[in-house]
Amino acid sequence: MTNTHDTGATLGLRTRLLHAGAPALRGGSGPVNVPVVRTSTVRFENTQALAEHHLRHVAGERVAAYGRHGLDTHRALEDAVTALEGGHRAFLAPSGLAAITLVFLSLLAPGEHALVADSVYSPVRRVDQTLLQRLGITLEYFSPAHDDLAALIRPNTRLLYLESPSSLLYEVLDLPKLSAVARARGVTVATDNTWSGGWFYQPLALGAQISIQAATKYIAGHSDLMQGIVVVDSPALAKTIATTYEALGLVIGADDAYLALRGLRTLPVRLAQHQRHATEVARYLQRAPQVARVFYPALPEDPGHALWQRDFSGASGLVSFEFRHADSAAAHAFVDALELFGIGASWGGYESLALIAAPGRLREHSHWRGSGPVLRLHVGLEDPQDLIADLARAFAQIDAGPTG
Ligand SMILES: Cc1ncc(COP(=O)(O)O)c(C=O)c1O
Repeated sequence: MTNTHDTGATLGLRTRLLHAGAPALRGGSGPVNVPVVRTSTVRFENTQALAEHHLRHVAGERVAAYGRHGLDTHRALEDAVTALEGGHRAFLAPSGLAAITLVFLSLLAPGEHALVADSVYSPVRRVDQTLLQRLGITLEYFSPAHDDLAALIRPNTRLLYLESPSSLLYEVLDLPKLSAVARARGVTVATDNTWSGGWFYQPLALGAQISIQAATKYIAGHSDLMQGIVVVDSPALAKTIATTYEALGLVIGADDAYLALRGLRTLPVRLAQHQRHATEVARYLQRAPQVARVFYPALPEDPGHALWQRDFSGASGLVSFEFRHADSAAAHAFVDALELFGIGASWGGYESLALIAAPGRLREHSHWRGSGPVLRLHVGLEDPQDLIADLARAFAQIDAGPTG
């Protein structure tokens, strides 16, 4: 498998991610990195220049007439993530969830309907219940593996919202097939691409029109940033998103734009290493007698493996597993016994984390057939043998029982 971005006549994507936004040399020298341009506003030489900038901004050009429009650091990041996703234009949001909400609010009006894969990042349902329903927008959750998508599309369906592989159990979706059905009926297709960091998966090349990422995860890569990105594939969609983006007053700080750019420079090497370590951990878990099932699409035994092999060029550091005999108390005891894995909700940083999947969240996923507790691991960049030893120690502790 190759990363599709690496082919073609232009420079490879690795090269472009490293050099995106590099400042021009002035007077024979200059810094390596993009300057952090912190400002709340922009000064102009005269009133005519201000008026011209304003008109160009209103016409949809990426020029700043005010701080909220973002300056050089923002532009460099937008260009880099647009190249990463192979899109037309990027929008920067203060969190991954804000990026998701931006897409729903941009594409849907009162009385309209969206179809949402039932295995998506669970807080999407909170956006639905607390905001979209109040606006008279209907979200309907469907099973991408079992339901007939064409039969679910209504005359007022405007958006198909997906995530592949999905949250917690990594269900791999047939994006080309689902997109073809939706787009033939004029339904816009958006997908959450956080799992792949944009490096292992190019949804815009496979039929989606909007790719969303929580840059909080792999793009940032160091657990020190909250950020979301939305990349669209066309000028028409850029205009639709830009209108709502402006109305919501969305913007990110220049320091945060800089941190995301810094993360992007090392995204491919970090992800390759996450994949190596996660594969080792996943294989160990497959052999562990305390484990009923391992969820990791790069394993040949995973139900999504064939689709993953067809559409992805690699796998991230997220591995989940179902305990074989342990009840919820034993699963909690297992997590408490871990020393190297931190206990926490996020992922995508350099460090390993563990989180028990809430049973209610698993039940939202129509393809979930298990009964035991599920633990999600984010396999970080520590020595994988140390991580495996940590897991083995924790298994031994629960095998010994509460008094052992
Ligand atoms: C798949 C996925 N999408 C989106 C988000 C939301 O990102 P943020 O935490 O930056 O709002 C998360 C966060 O965990 C996620 O896992």
